[in-house]
Amino acid sequence: MIENISNKIHDESRQGEAFSSLNIENEAYNKLFYIESYGCAMNFADSEVVASILHANQIGATTNLEDADIILVNTCSIREKAEERIRKRLTEFKQLKRQNPGLIIGILGCMAERLKGDLLDEEKLVDIVVGPDAYRSLPTLIEEAETGQKAVNVLLSREETYADISPIRLNSNGVNAFVSIMRGCNNMCSFCVVPFTRGRERSRSLYSILAESEALFNEGYREITLLGQNVDSYYWRDDEKNENVSFDQLLEKVALISPLLRVRFSTSHPKDITDEVLFTMKKHDNICNYIHLPVQSGSTRMLQMMNRTYSREWYINKINRIKEILPDCGISTDMITGFCTETEEDHRDSLSLMEYCKYDLAYMYFYSERPGTLAARRFEDDVPLEIKKRRLQEMVDLHRIHSLEGMQKDVGKICKVLIEGESKKTSEEFYGRNDQNKVVVFPKMNFKKGEYVQVKIERCTAGTLIGKVID
Ligand code: SAM
Ligand code: SF4
Ligand code: F3S
Repeated sequence: MIENISNKIHDESRQGEAFSSLNIENEAYNKLFYIESYGCAMNFADSEVVASILHANQIGATTNLEDADIILVNTCSIREKAEERIRKRLTEFKQLKRQNPGLIIGILGCMAERLKGDLLDEEKLVDIVVGPDAYRSLPTLIEEAETGQKAVNVLLSREETYADISPIRLNSNGVNAFVSIMRGCNNMCSFCVVPFTRGRERSRSLYSILAESEALFNEGYREITLLGQNVDSYYWRDDEKNENVSFDQLLEKVALISPLLRVRFSTSHPKDITDEVLFTMKKHDNICNYIHLPVQSGSTRMLQMMNRTYSREWYINKINRIKEILPDCGISTDMITGFCTETEEDHRDSLSLMEYCKYDLAYMYFYSERPGTLAARRFEDDVPLEIKKRRLQEMVDLHRIHSLEGMQKDVGKICKVLIEGESKKTSEEFYGRNDQNKVVVFPKMNFKKGEYVQVKIERCTAGTLIGKVID
């Protein structure tokens, strides 16, 4: 499934809309870089930090590959296919390197961290390999590469949050922005490579998050998404005030910046999302009624093997609690089919859980074994590919019914929509999203991007609500 970064808030691990257009003026720079990003929203946010670091070192951005002195690819390792896609993309740069032997090619992100120096042997055209915690060293690595050496920095850090760096917004629509609140992940889901590529969890200072969010609001942005692999375990110690700051407190402080600033967050781990978060969402109208709560499987046996630390029943209770406190809350999930030893019965448990939750949105994948993970070491990847794919298709078909039902329920209702841009289909229409993260399309009239409008929903497709603005 390919998502467009500019119109999807939750973008965890969607393999990869690459972006390359930069909303920044190119002044007189010594060199130019071109950057492409793959994977989750964290990677997209990181590329904005990278752009800022390079700009401060007189390396400007270009959207044109042919003009670039440096090509950077911010990579994802979440599934085998994600890595294959990046390797294929690299082969496309060979011709450019032949034409311009001085061209520097750098691999950033999770694939850099996972494969480290081996990437240099495997992909001969690569000059720089830099992991997610080492971006401050990029200018030095570029200098090294310019002397003809290969340059690698894949050190993971327990402290780095890039808190002091003001990201340069890439491919921005001027309305939505990501704000990173934490890095890394301490959960050890047995299938997942992220703890190995992103390192230990650490939270960014409250004040730097507030300063970035306020600056965005003052620049005209109207929606921010607080980002982390596990936002509910945000925890920051305010030594000056002798206080600890938890995620619900952070969320409230960001919401108080302005009632005109919409706040979203992603991703929540079912074991960590608290009642305090739910009540904070209820208290503030500008915190969107939408939670991405990945379950991965509906079978308690699978969940145990996945090391998710909750059971099917526990998850269902969490969903019930969300619906009790926030009856209109949109809920989405991530699902994996064909995890090690998964039986037809386990699979049916996943389908029946989906029947129960009737997710508004679901990101579904078949299991892809990742070297070095707990699952790769402990279990056999024993479900044949065609069975994984067949189960995935059954899931996708079921979810399509649920998402259409969810959309149909909104027909006739009036919802508040933040205008994000022109509809892809016609320049006569705008698109935006409602509180529950559903895409809404409507005639433009005299409205402007960044404004809130009340839209009466007249009809729908499985993915879009269609309506008219009412006075
Ligand atoms: N931190 C989030 C969480 O706890 O759910 C999501 C992290 S991951 C970047 C996004 C999704 O990719 C996961 O929720 C999972 O469904 C999927 N995923 C991760 N590893 C996978 C694997 N080895 N094979 C297939 N899907 C995988
Ligand atoms: Fe991966 Fe689990 Fe961490 Fe999510 S919570 S990033 S799935 S280890
Ligand atoms: Fe994100 Fe992919 Fe890394 S999903 S954290 S870029 S492995």
